[in-house]
Amino acid sequence: MAASLEDFLARAQSLARVAGDLQRESLCKPLSIEYKGEIDLVTEVDRGCEELLVKGLKGSFPEHDFLAEENLYESLGSSHKWIIDPLDGTTNFAHGFPWFAVSIALEVNGEVVLGVVYHTMMDEMFTAVKGGGAFVNGRRISVSRRSPLRGSLLASGFPYDSATDRENNFAHFVNFQMHARGIRRAGAAALDLAYVAAGRLDGYWEAKLKPWDVAAGQLLVKEAGGVVTGFSGEDYSVYNHRILASNGLIHDEMLAVLAKPAPLHAL
Ligand code: IPD
Ligand code: CA
Ligand code: CA
Repeated sequence: MAASLEDFLARAQSLARVAGDLQRESLCKPLSIEYKGEIDLVTEVDRGCEELLVKGLKGSFPEHDFLAEENLYESLGSSHKWIIDPLDGTTNFAHGFPWFAVSIALEVNGEVVLGVVYHTMMDEMFTAVKGGGAFVNGRRISVSRRSPLRGSLLASGFPYDSATDRENNFAHFVNFQMHARGIRRAGAAALDLAYVAAGRLDGYWEAKLKPWDVAAGQLLVKEAGGVVTGFSGEDYSVYNHRILASNGLIHDEMLAVLAKPAPLHAL
């Protein structure tokens, strides 16, 4: 019998827990760390989690394709592709700051249909299947009903090359700080999105992200009743590197802030 979305979801969740166990056991222990860029780290735990996730999924679904952060995988031309960030929030993890996650999504024929974000240190499993709603630890979640923007709590992040590239999000950050109640930069895009889905944050934007940062989280937001677009309100794809996700009620206000010129002191 062919595997169903429920089978895929069950396997993804159980492997996310195993990866989470490895992250929990390894937190604050001496780690082997490599540099992908001046400040962009990768630890042995990022690599170990990716290996166990990909091996586990390949073992169950050998005909599927994989897109994951730490390695390139040969394409088998499958209609099914797993999109994986084995450890989202690596900088936090490497510093012992307990805010990081495992993110696993499944794309079928180019569309993300399943998302799992496991918040390791809170033991919260966020899940969504297209058309089936979003859940945390089996309890249904929905986006907040909060508006306007001035009373909203937002999240964002900065790319690793923000010191050298002009697309560094500094101007948007200052503009939003002047129009929202507050902004959090907690350091894990998958959790920012999961928190919008759960109504704990009202909106999130970020640029220069990769599909593995957002594939699962953006489905959580949509399935929780939120809205996800690009920075000009255009349809969103996980291969589009700019994302705006919100409860829907503050989306237009957020688009208007993203269209504002840089404030002089942020240039
Ligand atoms: C990073 C985190 C961070 C975001 C970065 C991402 P990583 O992913 O999601 O919040 O601001 O742009 O690259 O490197 O920890 O997997
Ligand atoms: Ca990431
Ligand atoms: Ca990562």
